[in-house]
Amino acid sequence: MDVYRLLLCFVLVLTVYLVKEIHATHHVYEELKNVAPNSTQVYQYRTGYHFQPPSHWINDPNGPLYYKGVYHLFYQYNPYGAVWGNIVWAHSVSTDLINWLALEPAIYPTGPFDINGCWSGSATILPGGTPVIIYTGINTANQQVQNIAVPKNPSDPFLREWVKPSYNPLMAPTIYNQINSSSFRDPTTAWQGPDGRWRVLVGSKRGHRGMALLYRSKDFSYWVKAKHPLHSAEGTGMWECPDFYPVSVRDTVGLDTSVNGENVKHVLKASLDDEKYEYYTVGTYLHEKDSYVPDNTSADDATGLRYDYGKFYASKTFFDGAKNRRILLGWMNESDSVSTDVQKGWAGVHSIPRRIWLDPSGRQLVQWPVEEIEALRGNQYDIQNKRIESGSVVEVPEINASQADVEVTFDLYSLEEAEVLETNLVDPQLICSMKGASVKGGVGPFGVLVLASKDMQEQTAVFFRVFKGQGNKNVVVMCSDQSKSTLATDVDKTTYGGFVDVDLKDGKLSLRSLIDHSIVESFGAGGKTCITARVYPKTAVGDDARLFVFNNGSSAVGITRLSAWTMLQPSVNG
Ligand code: FRU
Repeated sequence: MDVYRLLLCFVLVLTVYLVKEIHATHHVYEELKNVAPNSTQVYQYRTGYHFQPPSHWINDPNGPLYYKGVYHLFYQYNPYGAVWGNIVWAHSVSTDLINWLALEPAIYPTGPFDINGCWSGSATILPGGTPVIIYTGINTANQQVQNIAVPKNPSDPFLREWVKPSYNPLMAPTIYNQINSSSFRDPTTAWQGPDGRWRVLVGSKRGHRGMALLYRSKDFSYWVKAKHPLHSAEGTGMWECPDFYPVSVRDTVGLDTSVNGENVKHVLKASLDDEKYEYYTVGTYLHEKDSYVPDNTSADDATGLRYDYGKFYASKTFFDGAKNRRILLGWMNESDSVSTDVQKGWAGVHSIPRRIWLDPSGRQLVQWPVEEIEALRGNQYDIQNKRIESGSVVEVPEINASQADVEVTFDLYSLEEAEVLETNLVDPQLICSMKGASVKGGVGPFGVLVLASKDMQEQTAVFFRVFKGQGNKNVVVMCSDQSKSTLATDVDKTTYGGFVDVDLKDGKLSLRSLIDHSIVESFGAGGKTCITARVYPKTAVGDDARLFVFNNGSSAVGITRLSAWTMLQPSVNG
């Protein structure tokens, strides 16, 4: 073999290695990524009022923003197939966060700095009001770099065209900065410190220490990496899609990303590539030091607080200046098989946009579907002051239970019969898996059975269980039990669970579920604990889907009030 061939071999081996590295984050099905949907697509699992494109694969929400009266949502999208690959920034616009109009993709590979993919990123509204986007590009060497894109015509409220200045990339791995070129992605919205300089975080890791690298800039074009990351946590692995923003200590209004000072706390969220779920902490941002110190009220690792204890990942928030609120959007991946996705011709949906704010306790966030979705509430059915005896089930009739919104407040008459929680049971997901909806308890399990068949052979159970914990303190667990969600066997039926931080002094516990064919997006205790599930019933489909309230505890519980609505169909990218 001559030297030339040897060199060629080396380059090939290196390329294969790099390509493998780069794709480590999502499964790559080379042979499927360009397979167009066939004509016999399965429609029953498409959503009625959640965000999704007409076909193909989607993942992370990107760069949400509000501009000149229009909400913009970009997202990771494969224009050619129902599995991850060929990634561009697809683009939809809306005036109410519910009805969406699909535009042409906004950002797609054009230059050496993003020729192998346009990955996640965020938008920042500059002081003059113009939005800019910083996103991860995969360059010719398959390295992750950060690029900027600006609107071609800022007077267009639809921001249809984006241009990429010639000084891209803004940030790149070099031999000097020790950045691992396959763990360097997903820039946050930038914020401006009191010194006038801009800051941006980029997700990364060193060894198994997840971190949010910090970059600073005076002019938004020339960026310098700070010596220390804003924050990092050992043992958490790669931090994808970090998010960092202020929240008000006093009330539920949202704050623009550069706000800091008295009565402001900060939130840092990381999407854990290894676990495929997210965690966040509430803490203090010391801007003189440019460091973030989490409060000690929750764990700063994978066991910490989550926005959502189910299928919800790569989320992003933005400040909505129109209504002074902060809004959270997340990606809900499928739980079915890849071959079903290809057959369906699509994969991935987004959550209903959620307003997000700091709980008065200061210990956690609270989320609630944006008020706009209430405009979709159609036919309504109410139940008031009804006792649900131990072991009984009540049907909620007259609504379309495959596309519905249900809100219920339970009355816990007595906590005396609450089960004792073994001290070694500290993982709520494990508690929910061991004690599913059919396992009898004391106070609970009680909740709703959604997307249920008439005979309840198929059902997704969203419920609470109240325990007596240490010092006789009540511990509330919220579960979403998918074990009976479908008669099909080739789907992931993992049960999800999260603790609910409530004192139960008034004996009330509320639950809201947004049911949408293959989505069950649930909010416990007014949005303190959220769980999303993706389910694929075989028989509980369309008009055959039912909704029940159940109580499988030995104590009776009451429904103080229940309202259920059929949800109307908005126009989503149609
Ligand atoms: C999260 C993620 C990001 C990356 C993008 C690629 O799901 O892996 O880290 O930028 O998806 O599509």
